[in-house]
Amino acid sequence: MSTRYVSTFADISISGKLSMTNVQPDRTVAARGQPPSECAPAEPRIDTASTAFQLEAKPSPIHRFGVFTAQAIAANVRVIEYTGERIGYREAERRRDRPYLYLFWVAPGRLIDGAVGGSGAEFINHSCAPNLVVDIADGRVFFVSLREIACGEELLLDYRVRADDSDAPPMPCRCGAASCRGFLNVP
Ligand SMILES: C[S@@+](CC[C@H](N)C(=O)[O-])C[C@H]1O[C@@H](n2cnc3c(N)ncnc32)[C@H](O)[C@@H]1O
Ligand SMILES: [Zn+2]
Repeated sequence: MSTRYVSTFADISISGKLSMTNVQPDRTVAARGQPPSECAPAEPRIDTASTAFQLEAKPSPIHRFGVFTAQAIAANVRVIEYTGERIGYREAERRRDRPYLYLFWVAPGRLIDGAVGGSGAEFINHSCAPNLVVDIADGRVFFVSLREIACGEELLLDYRVRADDSDAPPMPCRCGAASCRGFLNVP
């Protein structure tokens, strides 16, 4: 049994409560040049046990680091699993002030923190014209190719941040797609 979602990251931008939407506040830029903290991977890396493909985490034109293919990938295949520490809302709330946040909402009250034991999928950036979609199967999170992906392309997911249940300001998008809607959020 598996379910496909287009949404991704957990919204912890709301003061005092956690929402079940998928925004991730931008706390990564400020941390550039600072020493690695307990909650941020020192170097982006790909865990080869979580993917059958050659992938590279490296600087992205969109934002800080992204994940790129080092080989072509066919359509409709699992590209990488999103791994990390499994936590609940209370623990996610406790981590909200960390400079880097890689929280993925899996189901009500269940999140994965990619900052701890992450596969590298936590470095996948947002695009309004994505080449990946989320597939959740038995509580495991996989990013699946929406189409054939060429060697050297950046892997991209539509975060579809929902603004309706968040009082955080919309997050401006720098994906550069012709169809860019201007924000990581959806109406
Ligand atoms: C899961 S992280 C992606 C990895 C991130 N680039 C890094 O190096 O830590 C999500 C964060 O990346 C940034 N981001 C990703 N895609 C973006 C985009 N299209 N436009 C602007 N910022 C983006 C936002 O700050 C977002 O909160
Ligand atoms: Zn965009």
